[in-house]
Parts: sequence; structure tokens; C-alpha cells
Amino acid sequence: MSTAVERFDERARARVGEHARTVVHEDELLRHPAYTRVLHWSVAAFFILALLSGFAVYTPWLYRGLTPIFGGGPTTRLLHPWFSLGFVVCFAFQTLNWLQPMSWTGDDRRWLRRVRDYVANTEKREPEYVDFFNAGQKIYFWAIVGSAVVFLISGIPMCFPKTFGRPTVYVGYVLHDVAALVMLVGFIVHIYEGTAAVPGTLHSMTRGTVEKRWAWTHHPAWYRRASGRDARADYEAAVQRQAGQPPGKEEQPRP
Ligand code: HEM
Repeated sequence: MSTAVERFDERARARVGEHARTVVHEDELLRHPAYTRVLHWSVAAFFILALLSGFAVYTPWLYRGLTPIFGGGPTTRLLHPWFSLGFVVCFAFQTLNWLQPMSWTGDDRRWLRRVRDYVANTEKREPEYVDFFNAGQKIYFWAIVGSAVVFLISGIPMCFPKTFGRPTVYVGYVLHDVAALVMLVGFIVHIYEGTAAVPGTLHSMTRGTVEKRWAWTHHPAWYRRASGRDARADYEAAVQRQAGQPPGKEEQPRP
């Protein structure tokens, strides 16, 4: 039985999908529908605006360089909480959108035990149990959820210092800075992982699709569910094809 969140999310996907269809070619799988992509890039836009305006306001040596982008110091100060609010609201919708695939499972604990292999890139393929997101992606996601809550709570006294008093505002500054640091480090790693480290991933957030080859390599369990085919067999068949041998009779991985 579907929950209220799932029903809301399905309706939103359907509505956005009416205006922006995603074309899935024969050797591809649908990964992120238009609704998810709109949310993700709205989150990214608000995040970058909040980050730049935040740096401009709170870092004296960046003040001169960054405040002109937003029309001067006072406007930057005025806009920063609104950019941040935009980020929090969009990410709240993104959280509803990804609640199910981001839920933590026993397989994620298994994945973490072999995180060294992942970082060192010793294994070409992810283990069979890796589903729509791996544990690293889930940790990043939940770190953003936590940081967004901290940003919101700590930002309120910073906007209304007279109401809350100095000690609360100072605690707010420290929490705000810690959350910003977590987000910044995560953001840098995320851009690297989403572009250069794993070629083909960015396509999922621009066109909405990935190559089947990408799916069976990085998310075998999801590949199995989405295509009804065996990720390992298709991978091995592709390797054989590359080596110039015909695939086994029982396996016809791609047209
Ligand atoms: C501006 C540069 C960015 C690029 C190039 C980028 C790229 C991507 C890509 C390609 C994916 C899909 C990964 C997959 O399907 O496996 C993704 C997912 C995601 N993005 Fe971004 N993104 C950017 C900014 C952001 C920002 C600013 C945030 C939030 C602060 C964010 C949060 C996420 C999250 C939580 C996911 C799902 C988990 C993951 O894949 O790590 N992204 N991003």
C-alpha cells in the first residue's frame, strides 16, 4: 500500500512529466525523471547562491570580490537568507522524492566495510547488492538533510539577533560554520564523483538516462530490478564482446 508521501511524489512526477518527457533509447535505462532533475538543479542553484552570498557576507577577504555579484553588501545580506530558504525548501521536496531509495539497509553496512576498495577504485564493478544508490551516496544525502536542519535552526537567531540575544547568536554562528564546512567538503567530493570519477553519471541528471552498461557496473541490483536481467552475466558478456569473442548462447546482453 502506498503512503501519503509516495502518492504526493507520484502526482508531482506525473505533473512535471506532462511538460517534460524523458527520451529513453534502446541501450539506456531511465534513472532520474524530469521532476527529480528539476528538484536537483533547483537545489544546486540555491545552494551555490547561498554559498557565494554566505562567503561574501561572513568572510571579510571575499567581501569585495563577491558582494558586487549580488548588487552590493546590503543586498547580499538581504538575499542570503532567502537563497538559503530556497535551498532548504527544494531539498525538503528532494528528500520526499528520494526517501525510499535513500533508506539505510544491511547491504549499506556491507558496502561500508569495503569502502577502501571503492575509493582506491580496485574493483571495476560494484558488488551485486548495490541498488539505486550506494552507501556513500546515502551518507552524503543524509548529511545534507542534517546540515539543512542545522542551517535553518542556527540561521534564525542570526537573522533576529535582538530577539535571541548574543550567546544564542554566537552558538548559531558556530553551528552554521560547522554545517557549511560539512556541506562544502561533501559538495566538492560530490561534483568529482558525479562527473570525472564515474563517467556517464552526469548524463543521469541532464537527460535523465544512463547506459545499461553504466547501470550494471555501478548499481547491479537496480539494473536487475529495472531491466529484469542479470547484471553479472551482462557484464561478462560485454567483456567477452570487447575481447572479440561471441557471448554465450544463453546471454544476449544488448541489441
Ligand atoms: C553543481 C554541481 C552538481 C553536479 C554536477 C551534480 C551532479 C549529480 C549527479 C550526476 C547525480 C546523480 C548521481 C546518480 O544518479 O547516481 C547527483 C545526485 C545527487 N546530488 Fe548532485 N550535483 C551537483 C550539485 C549538487 C548540490 C549542490 C547538492 C546538494 C547540496 C546535490 C545533491 C545531490 C544528492 C543528495 C544526490 C543523490 C546522491 C548522490 O548521487 O550522491 N548535488 N548529482
